[in-house]
Amino acid sequence: MTVSGHKDARGGIAVGDHSESAVRDSRTEAVDTPAQVEDKSGSALIVDKLTKRFGDRLAFDDVSFEVGHGEVFGFLGPNGAGKTTMVRTLGTLLAPTSGSATVAGIALSAAAGPQIRARISVMPESPGLYLRLTVAENLECFAGLYELSDTRQRVASALQAVNLEDRANDPCRSLSKGLRQRVGLARSLLNDPEVLFLDEPTSGLDPVASREVHELIDGLRKRGVTIFLTTHRLDEAERLCDRVAILNTTLRLIGRPDELRKRLFSSTLDVRIRAPLDNADRVFAGLPGVESWELDQSGAYVLTVSDPSIATPEVARALIAAGADLLFLGESRHSLEDVYLELIHDDEEVKAR
Ligand SMILES: Nc1ncnc2c1ncn2[C@@H]1O[C@H](COP(=O)(O)OP(=O)(O)O)[C@@H](O)[C@H]1O
Ligand SMILES: [Mg+2]
Repeated sequence: MTVSGHKDARGGIAVGDHSESAVRDSRTEAVDTPAQVEDKSGSALIVDKLTKRFGDRLAFDDVSFEVGHGEVFGFLGPNGAGKTTMVRTLGTLLAPTSGSATVAGIALSAAAGPQIRARISVMPESPGLYLRLTVAENLECFAGLYELSDTRQRVASALQAVNLEDRANDPCRSLSKGLRQRVGLARSLLNDPEVLFLDEPTSGLDPVASREVHELIDGLRKRGVTIFLTTHRLDEAERLCDRVAILNTTLRLIGRPDELRKRLFSSTLDVRIRAPLDNADRVFAGLPGVESWELDQSGAYVLTVSDPSIATPEVARALIAAGADLLFLGESRHSLEDVYLELIHDDEEVKAR
């Protein structure tokens, strides 16, 4: 008689669900907008049934979603899920095999590449800097490649945005990985992008450097930049993202982290009392809002409830009436990690079959 936090609490969700409820429908949007027409009122990104194959290998398949202006959108998935390929496709570096997309208001096509690239930036997994050049020289060099005007001003404000002004004249070789990542971020800000793609921006960084990158991303959000962030770090997605999509070649789920929790897990109350109840069924059965109960390995009672705000006071009264010493009574909170593990674990079970 055990329950391990998230087991058996799937709430009847069909994983791999491509229904309207799982994937925001984008078919009614203007996905065929001609390259010249801007749609400022619409979404920053519209992805419609996009597929990318490399020969026989599917990188991602039939993926549809939308990202609103100013949103921080997390793209989560294990290694090989297709995250980088999606970034490279939306960043106009790879052509999709099928499907369509609108990036910063412009329909994705080879011809529209230069126009799209003027409005977006992609920060790849490794920043790819010239290590012998200084921070400022690197940024000036890239500003030149991007054919930007007022190079000095742009480099200065990019350095300021990532708090690197005092390292401007240091060679990149002398910088830590975290600082190099910040130079990469500065580089991606040079063209003042509307949409910024960050591919695993904290991969390999220590917690302090990761936190600094998170703070910079928060700052960009406040400036209204739309951010498409890939990560396999769930804490990062939960902390930074307004919505997340979970990808494993196909899009598995999309929504706000709290919505995903609700969709995948029913509400539970954790109850800790000093000594086990003689007859738990008599205490819990029939209480308003309580659907079932189990005793977990740690000696806590885990109650599945329909509405915690109704069940919690009822459970408290019933325990006191039964003479129990109540130590803790609270709603258990599933993390995004629970959601993710539930989905990815199911995928692995399917593959193993
Ligand atoms: N240029 C390429 N040629 C062939 N296969 C590729 C190429 N790029 C990526 N893939 C394959 O596509 C799949 C998705 O890769 P990727 O997008 O890098 O995943 P992620 O970034 O989520 O780890 C993987 O199976 C990978 O091997
Ligand atoms: Mg990747």
